[in-house]
Amino acid sequence: MPAQVMAVSGGAAQDLPARLTGQVIICTIIAAFGGLMFGYDIGISGGVTSMDVFLKKFFPGVYVKKHHAKEDNYCKFDDQYLQLFTSSLYLAAVVSSFFASKCCTKFGRRITIQLASLNFLTGVVLNACAMNISMLIIGRLFLGFGIGFGNQAVPLFISEIAPVKYRGGLNVCFQMLVTVGILCANVINYFTASHPWGWRISLGGAAVPALFLALGSLIIVETPTSLIERGQAEKGYATLQKIRGVRDVQKEYDEIAYATELSKQIKHPFKNLLKRSSRPQVVCSMILQVFQQFTGINVIMFYAPVLFQTMGFGSDASLLSAVVTGSVNSLATLVAVFGVDKLGRRLLLIEAAIQMLIAQVITGVILLLYLKSTNELPKKYAYVVLFLICFFVSGFAWSWGPLGWLIPSEIFPLEIRTSGFFCAVSMNMIFTFIIAQAFLTMLCHMRAGIFFFFSVWIVIMGIYAYSFLPETKGIPIDEMNEKAWKKHWFWKRYFSQERDQIPDKA
Ligand code: BGC
Repeated sequence: MPAQVMAVSGGAAQDLPARLTGQVIICTIIAAFGGLMFGYDIGISGGVTSMDVFLKKFFPGVYVKKHHAKEDNYCKFDDQYLQLFTSSLYLAAVVSSFFASKCCTKFGRRITIQLASLNFLTGVVLNACAMNISMLIIGRLFLGFGIGFGNQAVPLFISEIAPVKYRGGLNVCFQMLVTVGILCANVINYFTASHPWGWRISLGGAAVPALFLALGSLIIVETPTSLIERGQAEKGYATLQKIRGVRDVQKEYDEIAYATELSKQIKHPFKNLLKRSSRPQVVCSMILQVFQQFTGINVIMFYAPVLFQTMGFGSDASLLSAVVTGSVNSLATLVAVFGVDKLGRRLLLIEAAIQMLIAQVITGVILLLYLKSTNELPKKYAYVVLFLICFFVSGFAWSWGPLGWLIPSEIFPLEIRTSGFFCAVSMNMIFTFIIAQAFLTMLCHMRAGIFFFFSVWIVIMGIYAYSFLPETKGIPIDEMNEKAWKKHWFWKRYFSQERDQIPDKA
């Protein structure tokens, strides 16, 4: 029974009894389908926007440019409207993730996940049936609403239901399905590319993960934290027993209930983000997502087919190359699923920064030397670049990709968890938007220099991970302040004056 809330002394992973139950595994897999929706969309756009039938119907100017023999290699896809097609979704996602964070707190993680799938489904129908560009863009906005809701709720949901010891690996399942979504999209694009209705099939395929999520979300549990937070203590306790597979969950329950007591005193969680003691988590969650995007990953994910065509692979070969990078992305994410709770977060981030840096710099040098405005990249170099891109993607896949979602979902105290996580989701969407919108223009103007641009960012993020990121492996989610932030050489100063204060009631 939920006893009185006691002050919590704090425990390590081993003090909170829990088994990895079937219920947790099933709920994680179902929720992670939110990641599949997200990934599918990331992967589908690049392929669809390089399909001739699609371009002829919606972007005839780009179609003409693409087939213009003398067009500059680096500029042939540069078109603001085409970029808007890809990026409009992310603007909608920023706005909706704000409402999703409120919805998560007020109505729970589960309903937020359900709303995600319904919005997304609406978008899919509009897209697959699009008769004109307005339907196409409005459809993308609905997809964006769905993704905003999903990306806000799913990582939090998984981090809250997962036992401490397995939190990292389970949370990375979200990213795992992001990568599977990208891969499925690449494969589907490959087969639909030459079909007159290919783009409709490709865009319509997004209905599969959305339907699965909509149906699956009917059977997942609500997180104990959300139940307790919304005044359903008994149910929260029972759910905790069920998902932990043990009877004695009193200690974990006490931790959640204590965090809930603190969080109840907060009327304006967004205002509380401005408090000095919230700064470390806010800065870290936002910066991780900014860095994630400035690795340059989405240049590859969105525009791999376009990029490979730029390098002289034919249309089919370039989609095939995108399938190769997509497979590497998925397989390498497994390293994070199994490694993140053993190796820790920081080691993966730092190692991958070095790996990605090497790949970006060499790619930049090769393109600088051998890809001029109108030639084709000699085949042997094109294959070296393909290898380097796979090398880059694998590094990203076991580090900045999954950890950009995992770390922000586990570092906030409950009173600002949903609002704080909103900072991460919105940064992801804003910077994905910026990259999606700007990349083709940047490629046109900076040419091979774009790879050096991303390299500089990778150096900065490596230094950040080394010096400023505390290790969060194995620390219970409701004890992060005590065990991670207050012990960090830099961030501890943000707590010194506020150590035992009751949070701001305003
Ligand atoms: C990022 C996406 C990226 C994907 C690639 C995700 O974590 O947020 O922007 O396209 O990883 O796998």
